[in-house]
Amino acid sequence: MKEQLLKLKEEALNQLKECSGNADIEKIRVQYLGKKGELTLILRSMGSLSEEERPEMGKLANEVRAVIEEEIKAIKEEITAKENQKNAKSEIIDITMPGRIPEIGRRHPLIQVKEELESVFMRMGYDVVSGPEIDTVGNNFDDLNAPYDHPSRDRSDTFYVSDDLVLRTQTSPMQIRVMKEGKLPIRMVSTGRTFRFDDVDDTHSPMFHQMECLVVDKGVTLANLKDSIDQFVKELFGSNMKTRFRPHNFPFTEPSAEVDVSCHACMGEGCPTCHGTGWSMELLGCGMVHPNVLRNCGIDPEIYSGYAFGMGIDRVTMVKYGIPNIRLLFENDVRFLKQF
Ligand code: DAH
Repeated sequence: MKEQLLKLKEEALNQLKECSGNADIEKIRVQYLGKKGELTLILRSMGSLSEEERPEMGKLANEVRAVIEEEIKAIKEEITAKENQKNAKSEIIDITMPGRIPEIGRRHPLIQVKEELESVFMRMGYDVVSGPEIDTVGNNFDDLNAPYDHPSRDRSDTFYVSDDLVLRTQTSPMQIRVMKEGKLPIRMVSTGRTFRFDDVDDTHSPMFHQMECLVVDKGVTLANLKDSIDQFVKELFGSNMKTRFRPHNFPFTEPSAEVDVSCHACMGEGCPTCHGTGWSMELLGCGMVHPNVLRNCGIDPEIYSGYAFGMGIDRVTMVKYGIPNIRLLFENDVRFLKQF
């Protein structure tokens, strides 16, 4: 029996050495130490031993059990430690790795300029209002003093939705809407989309953006208009920007002018960008509100006067950021937009 026990011990220990997982160990434990295990069977047959042999064999059998149990415990610990190490390696945090930078959206350059313009005028005490992109022919033309035969009303220039509705060709109908509300005095700006039957080229798009400004009060003069435009140009582009007024014609203003600003590239010195003139192309159209327009809106031109101007936001954005082609503003290539 002694030999049987020692052999069993050796076999069990050898088998345990080969183990690679907890399932293997459990199988061996059951094989040797389980209820019907080999060691248990040997212990059960102890009854057939003599009185003298029994305690010795009992002691040996217990030792063998203890050795096997201990070995099982040690191997289990070893396996658990190995698994922990493996997990730790796969879960390791490398604090030297660069972080993942989340992609944060940003506002389109046109929207940035629009908001900047609005905030300049809000600081100067103007209301910011908005209105529809489809407006009546009356608001877009008639009440703005553009007679039936005015060229801008031609179907080759304007998108007609029906005989009396158009995609607005300018933000100027906002003047009519605000004046017809009847609240005086008026100091407002309004930005938004405008539409014209233009082919796309470097500086034209059938959809573009404008900002309209209207002031109506008692005693408003051309001097107020010039001063306001001068102030806002300096706020927007910098204090060394100069403005130049050139006589022009618009149906809804009298007198009317176009305004140029100093060339962005040379600040008025004269360079190839401005063809040596020192002035960049016109920034806006403006003038004193025509008495007919005031009358059309129920305002007495003998008591009230006003000034107005309209400006292309796309053009301002292009001048401000040196963007050579208007298409870039509408293609929405993320590589382009990311620069602003
Ligand atoms: N609406 C004109 C245009 O689209 C621009 C303009 C000129 C607006 C003179 C005005 C103004 O308010 O007074 O060309």
